[in-house]
Amino acid sequence: MGRGTDMQIRKETARDCPAISRLIAEAFLSAQHSTGREADIVIGMRAAGALALSLVAEEEGRIVGHIAISEARVGEEAGWFLVGPLAVLPAWQGRGIGSALMKAAIEELKTGEAGGQSLGFVLVGYPDYYGRFGFRSFAGLTVAGVPAENVMGLPFGTREPMGELIHHPAFGLDQKE
Ligand SMILES: CC(C)(COP(=O)(O)OP(=O)(O)OC[C@H]1O[C@@H](n2cnc3c(N)ncnc32)[C@H](O)[C@@H]1OP(=O)(O)O)[C@@H](O)C(=O)NCCC(=O)NCCS
Repeated sequence: MGRGTDMQIRKETARDCPAISRLIAEAFLSAQHSTGREADIVIGMRAAGALALSLVAEEEGRIVGHIAISEARVGEEAGWFLVGPLAVLPAWQGRGIGSALMKAAIEELKTGEAGGQSLGFVLVGYPDYYGRFGFRSFAGLTVAGVPAENVMGLPFGTREPMGELIHHPAFGLDQKE
């Protein structure tokens, strides 16, 4: 679980929402790739009831990390879950908090009620980071305008993701729904 002292990972509650928005904004300020909209995407998905899973990492009573999971389609196929945004406060990065959030989300989707018949995870992100959790690119798994190596999947079974990865409308991508 990394080098955190008393890190706790739990589902978000209503009172966490302002702190989650602040931490996402702060984390993405220094990110290599940011639209500046990441906090609003989470607010939009929450308002639409589209946050399949929203986990926070709490250290010393403070929310320092967050991961959002939403249902996504790959081509015409439902049953995939999209990771993102994933954010850790800059001062807390490099201590395993992002990894702990990702692993907790994988565990929850595999075994918890949020997952159900989940086919697995898909995302747009850094191969060097997400590769450590088993994510990889797949021929035919695409998002228009995004380099193929940054579009990745982590299937739970034998079914592989194949087709355009359709994000929730809150992401503001110009994709067919
Ligand atoms: C990416 C992020 C969530 C990782 O959280 P974290 O708690 O620092 O991650 P961990 O401590 O579990 O892992 C640290 C490792 O991730 C690597 N890492 C961090 N950012 C990375 C990036 N942009 N690309 C590749 N690797 C990255 C670190 O180099 C470190 O590698 P090491 O274990 O080989 O030393 C965090 O850096 C963050 O919030 N970044 C800004 C927002 C962002 O870019 N989110 C991801 C969107 S895809």
